[in-house]
Parts: sequence; structure tokens; C-alpha cells
Amino acid sequence: MTPEPKKGVSGGMTILQRVAPARPVQARRPTPESPEIVADRVIQGDCVDEMRRLPAGSVDMIFADPPYNLQLGGELFRPEGGRVDAVDDDWDHFDSFAAYDRFTRDWLHEARRVLKPNGTLWVIGSYHNIFRVGCALQDAGYWILNDVVWRKANPMPNFRGTRFTNAHETLIWASRDADSRYQFNYRAMKTLNDELQMRSDWLFPICSGGERVKGDGGAKAHPTQKPEALLYRVLLACTKPGDVVLDPFFGTGTTGAVARRLGRRWLGIEREERYCEVARTRINATLPFDESAMATVPSKKAAPRVPFGALVETGLVAPGTVVWDAKRRWRATVRADASLAMGDVQGSLHQVGAAAQGAPSCNGWAFWHVEFEGEVVALDAVRQRYLLMVGE
Ligand SMILES: C[S@@+](CC[C@H](N)C(=O)[O-])C[C@H]1O[C@@H](n2cnc3c(N)ncnc32)[C@H](O)[C@@H]1O
Repeated sequence: MTPEPKKGVSGGMTILQRVAPARPVQARRPTPESPEIVADRVIQGDCVDEMRRLPAGSVDMIFADPPYNLQLGGELFRPEGGRVDAVDDDWDHFDSFAAYDRFTRDWLHEARRVLKPNGTLWVIGSYHNIFRVGCALQDAGYWILNDVVWRKANPMPNFRGTRFTNAHETLIWASRDADSRYQFNYRAMKTLNDELQMRSDWLFPICSGGERVKGDGGAKAHPTQKPEALLYRVLLACTKPGDVVLDPFFGTGTTGAVARRLGRRWLGIEREERYCEVARTRINATLPFDESAMATVPSKKAAPRVPFGALVETGLVAPGTVVWDAKRRWRATVRADASLAMGDVQGSLHQVGAAAQGAPSCNGWAFWHVEFEGEVVALDAVRQRYLLMVGE
């Protein structure tokens, strides 16, 4: 597919609930710009070694959640005495900053080689590593497009009371080169945000509840599983259906699960066999959304404080959901970018509500109703649930 210019590309799709049965991913013919890659699989191994085996220029987007190099100095306990479940796994241990930097430069180099010229890289990290990674990626030739703050709605407290609550992580979004014509689905992002330009501060809860993959005895399968909503926004922002997304630190396979839902192809590399198995099982159980829910649309109106897109991203109102007015005269379908489609009419919940009534404007939050937890409620009630969920 031809990459779009830097702005205004529309093309997007689908989180937590599903609409259509699984369908095999279509094989595409290799082109000179797009060497063939065998996608939709988990590779067990070291990501630097495994990326070396991949063809150059074969991947549209990379999402990397590398080791944080937390350098924990001993156990951490809660005030009531319980042990804090911190990241103390072997994969997060490096002997020194120099060793971490060497590792970072190695994987960034291979990642850049496998990216297409117009491809982009996302890296997520905390204050422990993100500044080192940022420096290394600029040195490697990447071009930083944004840094995005993921503000955690429910962060872990600072148990010792010696610092601020560490309530965010940082994502860096960079293109392969300074002049890359990278994909950015500007309009889809704006529609997802109720017609306000999407900002670089994102509020999402940390991964918990049913989304958290559990192992034997109900324990977390992995200490740092990322929320699907975060990946949903990332993938919807800068990839198209059919694009190849690589995650070199695959963990539980969050990137693969969301990519599959959104009709993107994916490739995961993970060193630990136990996590590879977790990821394969998880992704196999994930069904893609229906293609008809994948189109996106522009529009103009201003927004309430909670964008409808936040409800779609977190799965409270999944793409494909049907909404009605209170008297059930009109019905519309929710699409991946939080637009509604009612026959030929498409747009934000406010626009489609207005079009249905032939009115100049409409408060879509009050107009549209949905079946939610066994009851028919106005979308505004679901918005209130979201606010409770994020603790606002
Ligand atoms: C921060 S976690 C990623 C979690 C993942 N984003 C998720 O949502 O489940 C980093 C993962 O990278 C893996 N890892 C560490 N070093 C690696 C390497 N050199 N090659 C491949 N995987 C590695 C670890 O085993 C760990 O599962």
C-alpha cells in the first residue's frame, strides 16, 4: 500500500469484545518495497539474533516494550507488610548502564534495518530507561515524532512515601528517517477523541481484571502486561489494515492480540518460552473485528470531557455495537474509530444523531442508547461508568 503523506491519512479499525469470526490473514505478494515476511507467529529467541534473520525493509511498524533495567535494590514491602510484586525477573537484569546501552543500541540497529523506509517505531519505558533509549535512537538515525505520556488511572502508590507516585510511562514515536513519509491517521485520531485533535497525554488504567492473563493458581502470567487500550490507540494511529507490526519484546503478546483484532499482521519475538506459550494461547483465542467496522471518518464538532473514543478503546462499547434512540426509531453501528454508521450516514455520535432527526445538532450522549450490563441505557451512563473506572 502506498504510504500517505505525513498528515490526514484515514484508515483504521477496532478492543475487548469481538464481532466477527476469525478469518485467515490474506497472503500478499512481495514487492521490491515490501519483501515477504512470514507474519502472524511468535518466534522464541533473542530479539537481536532473530531480527537479523528478517529481511531488511519488511516491517511497517515496531512496538517495543524493552526491559526497564529497574535495578531494584532488594525487596519492597507494603505498609501492611505484604510484598510488592515488582519486576525482578532475570530478563530485566543488566550489569551496568553501559551493558544496557549496548543492548539498546544493538536492538535499535536491527529494528531500524527491518523497518520499511516509511516505517515507524514506538518504544515504551519508564524514567529508569526511556532517556537512555531516546538518546540511543536519535544516535541510530531515527527521527522523533512525539513523546506520549501514558498517565495511569490507577498507579501503584509510593509505599515508602519518599517520592511522588510514579503515575506514568513515556512512549517515544519515531520514524526510521528524518524524511520518512510515515503513516499518521490524523482524522481517525481526531474522531476517536470526539472531534478534538488527539493530544500527547493519554489516560488509561493499567492492565487488570479479566484482561490480565493469569497463570497457574491465578497468579499474573507476566509482571508487565500492557493494557490493550494503549496498543489499540497506537496501532489505530499509525498503521493500516494488512500492515506488518513487529514486537521484539512480546511478553504476553498484547501487541499481537490487538493487531489481530484490528486486521493488522503481526510478528512477536520473545526470549522466554513460557511467555511465548502464553502469547500463542492468548492470540489464538482472539477474534478479529468485522471489516465493516474498520472504516474511519472525519468530522468537526467539539467534545465533552470524556471522548466517546475512550469508551470504544477500553471495550465498554465495542466496535460493531448497535445503538438506538430511546424510541428505537433509528439504529446505528459503532465503528473502530468511534464513528457511527447509519446506512449511508456516518460521523460522530452527535452528527449521526442530528442527521437522524434532521436537526441542526444533537447531544449524542443522551440520544443514543445501548444495551449495557443487561440494561438499555443512554451512552452517557456508560460514560459515567468509564469515569468511575479511571477514578475521575
Ligand atoms: C516489558 S516486557 C513486555 C511485556 C509486553 N509488552 C506485554 O504486554 O505482555 C519485556 C519482555 O521482553 C522479553 N525479553 C527481554 N530481553 C529479550 C531479548 N533480548 N529478546 C527477546 N525478548 C526479550 C522478556 O522476557 C519480557 O517478556
